[in-house]
Amino acid sequence: MQKAKVGVLISGRGSNMAALLYAAKADDCPYEIVLVAANDPDAPGLALAAAEGIATFGQSHKGMKRAEFDAVIDAQLRAAGADYVALAGYMRLLSPEFVAGWENRMLNIHPSLLPRYKGLDTHQRAIDAGDAFAGCSVHIVTAELDDGPVLGQTPVAILPGDTADSLAARILIAEHQLYSRTLAAFVTRERQPDWLLNKVREIALAQPQAEETLSHGMPCFGIAKGKKFAWVSRDHHGDGITALLVKTTAPDEQASLIEMDPDIYYRPAYFGDEWIGIRLDRGENDWDHLATRIRASWRQVAPKKLLGLMDIAEEF
Ligand code: GAR
Repeated sequence: MQKAKVGVLISGRGSNMAALLYAAKADDCPYEIVLVAANDPDAPGLALAAAEGIATFGQSHKGMKRAEFDAVIDAQLRAAGADYVALAGYMRLLSPEFVAGWENRMLNIHPSLLPRYKGLDTHQRAIDAGDAFAGCSVHIVTAELDDGPVLGQTPVAILPGDTADSLAARILIAEHQLYSRTLAAFVTRERQPDWLLNKVREIALAQPQAEETLSHGMPCFGIAKGKKFAWVSRDHHGDGITALLVKTTAPDEQASLIEMDPDIYYRPAYFGDEWIGIRLDRGENDWDHLATRIRASWRQVAPKKLLGLMDIAEEF
């Protein structure tokens, strides 16, 4: 299994970073930590990460413009080969450039049940409000502070006599469990059958006169009142495979594709020689290429009249 590469940003203690790091030691953890960086060279978490053999980077932000400092961190993350960023107690506002550069690739953990209590002092604010539960949230980072889609939350009961510190200590236990689980699910979401089906659906239904139906238990896409041009096979007969089935464009294409890459391409049972199975569950999918294949398959089955209209439209 190819592991997703994660860079973690901290400002101090780094206990959430440690939780991510220890979880990553399991063979079946889908991510690995490639860098721990801090905006304070003395952040205790850096020493912990270094002792675990993880690359670290620490530099103070003092005296630097926000965007300038973020560019330094960004360069370190990219040099380390990070695909994702996990903010773990990184107490800095981020520049819009930095956020945009990691759009949909950066997560944060926050000690409240978002959207409640964004910002600081979350534990005391929950106690003062008389809430029965506080908790923690992991969310995708967007330009707004502690905003962005929430991916996971854990409620933690507030006990009579709780202080901000006693509550924070219990929430921290929940944080340590929530973060690695949520990060693991996030980096593998593009391998989940539902995510893959939705992606194919988006492309297939963008083709002229396309409609979705269900056939032999498989979602499939065809031209309305016409022929089918794409199927999505999900664990068909318990084979554990998620794949796209499309029509080939030349007589021997099925055999040559399978010969070229037998890990990706296969002959779909009962479909004959004119269809090709393309595995979607192997990790890296080239969606531009897959969209081209879906479009080519659509062209194979489209009535001549519709094709002619499309070609004329495309000329303009
Ligand atoms: C954690 O409780 C984290 O949720 C919080 O800072 C603490 C860092 O502890 N983050 C925020 O408040 C972000 N808005 P740690 O350094 O031991 O992980």
